[in-house]
Amino acid sequence: MSAMLLLLLVSSLMIASATATNKTQTKPGCQLKCGNIAVPYPFGMGEKCSIDEWANINCNTSFHPPKPFIGTIEVVQFLETEVRIKNTIAAYCYNQSGASIYNIPSSIDLHGTPYTFSSTKNKYTVIGCDTLASDGCTTRCDKRENVIQGSCSGSGCCQTSISKGLKEFTVAVVSIDNHTNILSFDECGAAFLAEEDKYKFKISDFYYNNIPSLTEVPVVLNFAVGNRTCKEAKKNATAYACKDNSDCYDSVDDTGYLCGCNTGYKGNPYLTLGCQDVNECEDLNNNPCEGICTNTQGSYNCSCPDDSYSDGRKNGDGCTKKSKELPILQLSLVGGSWLYLSIRKRKLVKLKKKFFQQNGGLLLKHQISSHEGRGKSTKIFTAEELKLATNNYDQRRIIGQGGSGTVYKGILPDLRIFVLAIKKSKIIDESQLGQFINEIDILTQINHRNVVKRIGCCLETEVPLLVYEFVANGTLSHHLHKKSGEMSSISWEDRLRIATETAGALSYLHSAASIPIIHRDVKSANILLDEHYTAKVADFGASRLNPLDQTQISTLVQGTMGYLDSEYFHTSQLTEKSDVYSFGVVLAELLTGEKPLCFERSQEQRNLAAYFVVSLKENRLFEVVEAGVVKKGKTDHVHAVAKLAKRCLNMKGEERSTMKEVAAELEGLRGSYSSASTSRWETEPIWPMNVPR
Ligand SMILES: *[C@@H]1O[C@H](CO)[C@@H](O)[C@H](O)[C@H]1NC(C)=O
Ligand SMILES: *[C@@H]1O[C@H](CO)[C@@H](O)[C@H](O)[C@H]1NC(C)=O
Ligand SMILES: *[C@@H]1O[C@H](CO)[C@@H](O)[C@H](O)[C@H]1NC(C)=O
Ligand SMILES: *[C@@H]1O[C@H](CO)[C@@H](O)[C@H](O)[C@H]1NC(C)=O
Ligand SMILES: *[C@@H]1O[C@H](CO)[C@@H](O)[C@H](O)[C@H]1NC(C)=O
Ligand SMILES: *[C@@H]1O[C@H](CO)[C@@H](O)[C@H](O)[C@H]1NC(C)=O
Ligand SMILES: *[C@@H]1O[C@H](CO)[C@@H](O)[C@H](O)[C@H]1NC(C)=O
Ligand SMILES: *[C@@H]1O[C@H](CO)[C@@H](O)[C@H](O)[C@H]1NC(C)=O
Repeated sequence: MSAMLLLLLVSSLMIASATATNKTQTKPGCQLKCGNIAVPYPFGMGEKCSIDEWANINCNTSFHPPKPFIGTIEVVQFLETEVRIKNTIAAYCYNQSGASIYNIPSSIDLHGTPYTFSSTKNKYTVIGCDTLASDGCTTRCDKRENVIQGSCSGSGCCQTSISKGLKEFTVAVVSIDNHTNILSFDECGAAFLAEEDKYKFKISDFYYNNIPSLTEVPVVLNFAVGNRTCKEAKKNATAYACKDNSDCYDSVDDTGYLCGCNTGYKGNPYLTLGCQDVNECEDLNNNPCEGICTNTQGSYNCSCPDDSYSDGRKNGDGCTKKSKELPILQLSLVGGSWLYLSIRKRKLVKLKKKFFQQNGGLLLKHQISSHEGRGKSTKIFTAEELKLATNNYDQRRIIGQGGSGTVYKGILPDLRIFVLAIKKSKIIDESQLGQFINEIDILTQINHRNVVKRIGCCLETEVPLLVYEFVANGTLSHHLHKKSGEMSSISWEDRLRIATETAGALSYLHSAASIPIIHRDVKSANILLDEHYTAKVADFGASRLNPLDQTQISTLVQGTMGYLDSEYFHTSQLTEKSDVYSFGVVLAELLTGEKPLCFERSQEQRNLAAYFVVSLKENRLFEVVEAGVVKKGKTDHVHAVAKLAKRCLNMKGEERSTMKEVAAELEGLRGSYSSASTSRWETEPIWPMNVPR
């Protein structure tokens, strides 16, 4: 066996060629190039030009152009942490008469140098159809057809990994059967290391004439500076190789360390002033800022022009345009998170278009254009705009979550803050589509100071998203029903005003709008308060337009328990009076500070509407009214409001007052109150919370 193996020792050394732009690549007075190949420090030509003996490059000028060598190893490229060298292969060949015409083993020994064969980049490769390599690796194939071009899976070519830290590669190859019967397509066998990405097996590699081309396949060597760890090396500043703005890291393949420029710097870490600041702002294709880019040492600052704000970063919030008057708007997103997730998984563009059409985008667009010039139109947002506005539906932007979905705060490029609402998915029923579009359109035209303004929608998503103005100070429910122990802070005067404003808004929806609109989900949680505690009726998520020719609409019962009109609940007959009932519950809430439904209360008191009416009947009103209201509210006013609430809560819809009557009555009470009272509501004391009975 050993006779079959011929070992030829190619004594060795090695290195490199250069990458890197040329700011500072060599020590002063040193030549950068050997022929066409850059030789950057720590490599160098001549002792004074390299970091150490191992990095001293011999530039052999007897070649044209000259070629760099590390010892006897020819280098084709010097890279930051590795060098590419010319290959040395072990091979044998027969000519067509069956005579052995070539047989050379290969050996590279890197001991005593800081070089190792890269275990990640190189593969040990054996080719041939009758080849036995000295490490026992064989490849056999008896027909040309069995050789698979481009594949090193064993038939004609095989490849295996090499071990980490390998410093010596010695191999010889022989034929097992003198290539008998296969000479027509295979004259040679060979074994060599190869940079994996750079070698693609071809059947032509079997021919004697092509063997030299195999030496063009590069091999990658790693190197390290010195033979200590970073930690040890840093102890001796004079010997430490990493210069300004760079740091060192341990070599993965061997002992020793390497240097690299710090983030934000580029260049040669082994030279003083080698690592130079990268001017990120000059990168025209990949400028990191959306706004103004200011380069800094090792980094950059993004900022926004005066007319906009935010962090200015492309991968951050970018720049958001300020708007002059800063109207505060709100965006409420119903069912947003699942919607967004489910959408992301699919092909967005196609879907967007589909949803847009499915959601009646074209119809709506048409309607909008027909309104143009009237100054009240729905803005159609793109899914992308809303994604940006909510900072990709950022958790921190959630301002509410409920049965109808999630409500997000959004910021539009003109700095308007808004809330996004997504209607429930059942809306997507084709038959309801036209109605839905009408609703968006008509509700957008509603213009009442106590109705949350809808500013647009997005139809590119599976469920239409609705965009509303932002109302800063939360819901009436939130202010009325604080956690036990906390104070409810709304004065009687404010309560009366909020009731009046809400009644006015509902009255407007029922009668003043071009088509009557039934809200269907009037409750304290749908009455929003702005920074002046002005009421804004919100969430028309359940609302239906009430066609003029019908006074009742049979529809799925919607609404919130505790506010539901029992008549509507039992008959599903929807009228404006259903809203009146719910408003009655809100009045009871304002008077008592109690939640409409509370299972912590005794059986008889669970339903606020019921026990409020009973209390009134039994002349026990002031037992149930909140302490602060009793103290501050004029008795006759409190009584009047209570009686009004009772009329709203009448079991029979037709016996309830209309919203118009309710609004007028509250208006009257408030008028007399304001003129009679000198106390300003701002100075009103904080109301004590009414502890549940
Ligand atoms: C870098 O090299 C280019 C071309 O090789 C040359 O034009 C340029 O002047 C060099 N810059 C420096 C700083 O040496
Ligand atoms: C340059 O290469 C030639 C050919 O391989 C060789 O004969 C010569 O000794 C080399 N010169 C040096 C300085 O290594
Ligand atoms: C093969 O090589 C042998 C020995 O060198 C030679 O005599 C013979 O002519 C060659 N045959 C062919 C076909 O080249
Ligand atoms: C291969 O060739 C050698 C010398 O040419 C010969 O001694 C040997 O017997 C041959 N082997 C086979 C299997 O043909
Ligand atoms: C490390 O290098 C020093 C000098 O360069 C040498 O004396 C020492 O033997 C080396 N240590 C090892 C483990 O290679
Ligand atoms: C630090 O390195 C220098 C240069 O290699 C050497 O002369 C000196 O002795 C070293 N100092 C220590 C404390 O190892
Ligand atoms: C960059 O921004 C940071 C933080 O805003 C600031 O502290 C620093 O002074 C800025 N640097 C420059 C050069 O503008
Ligand atoms: C909201 O109301 C609270 C009182 O409950 C008040 O302290 C706060 O300043 C208000 N917030 C805004 C934004 O007006």
